[in-house]
Amino acid sequence: MRRPIIAGNWKMNNTASEGVTLVKAIAPLVTDANCDVVVCVPAIDIPAVSEALKGTNIKLGAENVHFAEKGAYTGEISAAMLLEYGVEYVIIGHSERRQYFAETDETVNKRTLTALKAGLTPIVCIGESLEERETGKTEEVLATQIKDGLKDIEDITKIVIAYEPVWAIGTGKTATAEQANETIAFIRKTVGEMFCPKCADALRIQYGGSMNAGNCKELMAMPEIDGGLIGDASLKAPDFAAIVNFDK
Ligand code: 13P
Repeated sequence: MRRPIIAGNWKMNNTASEGVTLVKAIAPLVTDANCDVVVCVPAIDIPAVSEALKGTNIKLGAENVHFAEKGAYTGEISAAMLLEYGVEYVIIGHSERRQYFAETDETVNKRTLTALKAGLTPIVCIGESLEERETGKTEEVLATQIKDGLKDIEDITKIVIAYEPVWAIGTGKTATAEQANETIAFIRKTVGEMFCPKCADALRIQYGGSMNAGNCKELMAMPEIDGGLIGDASLKAPDFAAIVNFDK
């Protein structure tokens, strides 16, 4: 059985002090979670939020990591810098980074390999745009993102994939549970062909895109969906906690 994983992606929201207030509000609401609970936070929030999470069952994640170990990369953050504050997860290749910051499957692959080498768990985001879905290119786009973004990974079960249809992010439009389930099944099949079917069976694949307290139960009831990567709804303690407690 794959253990579900619910992760918040705060994006560029919450100063460090706001972040501390938020995790202090979330922590008592999720103590009985039957899933892995993660908050992925802005880099500058990490020290304070890391401290605030001590003694809780919430794990810390970052929103990006550079692929070099160190060096002349002004403005970037290395895996070692994240590890020093107890970061365990890192989002890689979010569609906003692909869209606004020139992230490609090649850089996604480099970041993922670096994160794995450092012992971080990458949450690798893939997903199609509205135009790609409407022109029937979803599977082709996802297959390329998988083939190029995940190449050379030794143990694919050490990553988490987040399937985030770009048209569902921040738009209030969710993929239907059936659509999400079907597409994630395709992702799992493709990973199985590239690595091994048994590894694909053990791999956790989240859905992301306007997942909220109202629709999480239906999405999480789907056999292929192993969790959620939550944007907007992760910024409010009761909403995020309701998603974490989807099975109660
Ligand atoms: P929303 O939940 O705000 O649609 O964002 C999803 C997302 O991008 C998580 O990474």
